[in-house]
Amino acid sequence: MLKIALSKGRIFNETLPLLAQAGIEPIEDPETSRKLILNTNQAEVKLVVIRATDVPTYVEYGATDVGVAGKDVLLEHGGEGLYEPVDLQIARCRLMVAAPINAPLPRGRLRIATKYVNTTQRYYAEKGEQVEVIKLYGSMELAPLVGLADRIVDVVDTGNTLRANGLQAIELIAEISSRLIVNKAIMKMKSKQINQLIQQLQLAVNKTH
Ligand code: ADP
Ligand code: PRP
Ligand code: MG
Repeated sequence: MLKIALSKGRIFNETLPLLAQAGIEPIEDPETSRKLILNTNQAEVKLVVIRATDVPTYVEYGATDVGVAGKDVLLEHGGEGLYEPVDLQIARCRLMVAAPINAPLPRGRLRIATKYVNTTQRYYAEKGEQVEVIKLYGSMELAPLVGLADRIVDVVDTGNTLRANGLQAIELIAEISSRLIVNKAIMKMKSKQINQLIQQLQLAVNKTH
C-alpha cells in the first residue's frame, strides 16, 4: 500500500497530470466527494486529501508514506524526518514581505502579520532586526489596512491581491514551488515502490519543462 497526501485545490489539480504520467489516476473527485481517502486505478495506491499545512505532519509521522507540499509550508514546518526528492515545479509563487504603498517607515519595532511565524522570525533574525510577529491564519493583506500590522509576509503570484489592497512587495524571502516529500523510515521499507514513483514523477516534470 502507498498513501499519498495532497491538499485540495491548486496542489491537487496541478499534481494530477504528473501522477497520471506516473500511471496513477484517482477514481473519485475530491471537489465533489466528501471522502478523504480516494481510491485510484491502482488498488495499492490511495490519495489522502488534507489541509496543505498538515501534509508535512502526516508524512513525518508516517500516517501517509509520501505527500505534496509547498516549499513555504516546508520552510515553516521544518524538514525533520522528511526527504524532499522531487521539485514538482507546480504552484509556483514567491514568499515575500509586502507593505502599504507610500507608507512611512514606522517608529519602533516593525509589526509583521503572517501565517509563516517561524520563517518570518528566522528571516528577520538573520537580518539582525527586532520585529514583532503577529500570527494570522489567512487574509494577511487586511492587516496593514486596519492598522494591525506594518507589513505582511505572504505568498505572491500575480500580485493582484496585493495591488487590490494597496500593498506592494518589498523583499523576496524565497522562491516557492511544491515538492514531493517522503517519510525517511518508510523510504527504506518501501524503497522499490517509492523510488519508482520518484523516477516517474521526475520524468513527468522534465517532460513538462
Ligand atoms: P491554502 O488553503 O493553505 O491556502 P492553497 O492551495 O492556496 O492552500 O496553497 C497551497 C500551496 O500552493 C501553498 O503552500 C503555496 O506553496 C502555493 N500557493 C499558494 N497561493 C498561491 C498562488 N496564488 N499561486 C501559486 N501558488 C500558490
Ligand atoms: C493566495 C495567497 C495570496 C494570493 C496571492 O491566496 O494567500 O492571497 O494567493 O496570489 P496573487 O499574487 O496571484 O494575487 P489563495 O488564492 O490561495 O486564497 P486563500 O486565502 O484561500 O489561501
Ligand atoms: Mg491559499
